[in-house]
Amino acid sequence: MAWHPPAPIAAGGQTLVLLLALCTFVSISDAYDPLDPDGNITIKWDVMSWTGDGYVAVVTMYNYQKYRHIQTPGWMMGWSWAQKEVIWSMLGGQATLQGDCSKFHAAIPHSCMRSPTIVDLMPGVPYNQQITNCCKGGVLNSWVQDPMSSVAAFQVIVGQAGTSNITVKLPKNFTLMTPGPGYTCGPAYRVPSTRFKTPDGRRTTQAVMTWNVVCTYSQFLASKAPTCCVSLSSFYNETIVPCPTCACACQSNFSSSQGCLREAPASTGGSSTGLAPQPVAPLLHCTQDMCPIRIHWHVKQNYKSYWRVKVTISNRNYAMNYSQWNLVLQHPNLNNLTEVFSFSYEGLAPYGNAINNTGMFWGIKYFNDLLYQAGPFGNVQSEMLFEKDAATFSFGEGWAFPHKVYFNGDNCVMPPPNAYPSLPNKACPSARHVRPFLRHACLLLLFSILLVLL
Ligand SMILES: *[C@@H]1O[C@H](CO)[C@@H](O)[C@H](O)[C@H]1NC(C)=O
Ligand SMILES: *[C@@H]1O[C@H](CO)[C@@H](O)[C@H](O)[C@H]1NC(C)=O
Ligand SMILES: *[C@@H]1O[C@H](CO)[C@@H](O)[C@H](O)[C@H]1NC(C)=O
Ligand SMILES: *[C@@H]1O[C@H](CO)[C@@H](O)[C@H](O)[C@H]1NC(C)=O
Ligand SMILES: *[C@@H]1O[C@H](CO)[C@@H](O)[C@H](O)[C@H]1NC(C)=O
Ligand SMILES: *[C@@H]1O[C@H](CO)[C@@H](O)[C@H](O)[C@H]1NC(C)=O
Ligand SMILES: *[C@@H]1O[C@H](CO)[C@@H](O)[C@H](O)[C@H]1NC(C)=O
Ligand SMILES: *[C@@H]1O[C@H](CO)[C@@H](O)[C@H](O)[C@H]1NC(C)=O
Repeated sequence: MAWHPPAPIAAGGQTLVLLLALCTFVSISDAYDPLDPDGNITIKWDVMSWTGDGYVAVVTMYNYQKYRHIQTPGWMMGWSWAQKEVIWSMLGGQATLQGDCSKFHAAIPHSCMRSPTIVDLMPGVPYNQQITNCCKGGVLNSWVQDPMSSVAAFQVIVGQAGTSNITVKLPKNFTLMTPGPGYTCGPAYRVPSTRFKTPDGRRTTQAVMTWNVVCTYSQFLASKAPTCCVSLSSFYNETIVPCPTCACACQSNFSSSQGCLREAPASTGGSSTGLAPQPVAPLLHCTQDMCPIRIHWHVKQNYKSYWRVKVTISNRNYAMNYSQWNLVLQHPNLNNLTEVFSFSYEGLAPYGNAINNTGMFWGIKYFNDLLYQAGPFGNVQSEMLFEKDAATFSFGEGWAFPHKVYFNGDNCVMPPPNAYPSLPNKACPSARHVRPFLRHACLLLLFSILLVLL
């Protein structure tokens, strides 16, 4: 078989460009997604004691999601009673509607709804309305970010229910809103009664009956349109690759009563702290991508054995402060992340500890854990220092850019790989920093296609 020298490649410029695009694509599209396969919110319903006509229960919500949280205006939990139950009273939460309690003459229940919806109380309610883990305005932090605040709880006193573990019927059709859609809850199922340790740890008590409900999140259910996008730049190429046009919506058909805004509106925020949480309508600054959140990744500096990246998160929504925000990044060099400035960090290792290419970043309490509404303060920044691994490190082939970016658990739209800032000298076979494996693959492909062409 004739072995053609590389010389004719120059003539086949188009082929080369094509192959380069292909090579770039191959190095970027290690597509996988389930970063948090077991992530869920588990609702635990502990019947603590029986009453004359029902029971006292503590309902606890555990956010077992690594990087997805519920922020203001907060969660709303609903279910349908299986029998004729009513809620006599509540602590640490409240039903949004009382419903028709006209059948009751002496004592009036808190709620007679067949399908009640419960919301959290605001912080600072009187102590006699609180229970442990209640009253956070519906905010539920993610489990990695802060296990302590990833739990919410309220107490209900249920009437017209069974008064034994045989006659009580489990509620049905649980729902969890944030307050928008996104979560789907499974059926309630009996589990062994929860055991509780007294504060001194010397006595254990237990619930008389416990059931669980597991709710899982789907971005598809939550919103059909993406909510964030990624832009890229580097010190070795002055091109700034913007977010893809219309990544989240187009300016022309941005669905909002006011369209998009060219400058800050006269008054923002002060969103109602009314009873039932409402989804906040976005008030977006005009951009070509119309994403409320932009993540900018800048390859800032190259040292002998390290390299440095600057990440900026910009909020373009005038109507929203993002509290307890988080960012998940996937990049092959995260296994050698040496230092992170201004953000908290934890590796996620979605494949056990086999590949540490995914990390979660979030703000430092009281410093930048609040991503302020659009405007001069509407951004947070961090720099990250990576140690180079000689076997894989490269500025070629877009290697220095992240594979995947998630903001608050939502997948962000990336620019197409062939638009990434490239090294000034972009010829595939001669780029010095190209990964050896890819270079060989490139050459091989090039030659085989040339052979076919000739
Ligand atoms: C929910 O999360 C918990 C904690 O990670 C896990 O033990 C449980 O198996 C999960 N449940 C489901 C149905 O995924
Ligand atoms: C109900 O409770 C009794 C004792 O209180 C227990 O013996 C029985 O196993 C329980 N039944 C179920 C179905 O849990
Ligand atoms: C639960 O939802 C199903 C399907 O939406 C419905 O058929 C059923 O009547 C509901 N059950 C209750 C108790 O509301
Ligand atoms: C907006 O317009 C673009 C192109 O004009 C179209 O592809 C897209 O489906 C439209 N989106 C909506 C929500 O109407
Ligand atoms: C964001 O937070 C600041 C400070 O707490 C507040 O003044 C502003 O009104 C908030 N903006 C929105 C949109 O809630
Ligand atoms: C990934 O990180 C974990 C915990 O930091 C460590 O035990 C493990 O060895 C790492 N795996 C690799 C391949 O670096
Ligand atoms: C990078 O991390 C891997 C696995 O965590 C380790 O084996 C390797 O020695 C590290 N490389 C450098 C240059 O620190
Ligand atoms: C910078 O990157 C862009 C996009 O890949 C490329 O078109 C351009 O030629 C590069 N600039 C230089 C000076 O190499």
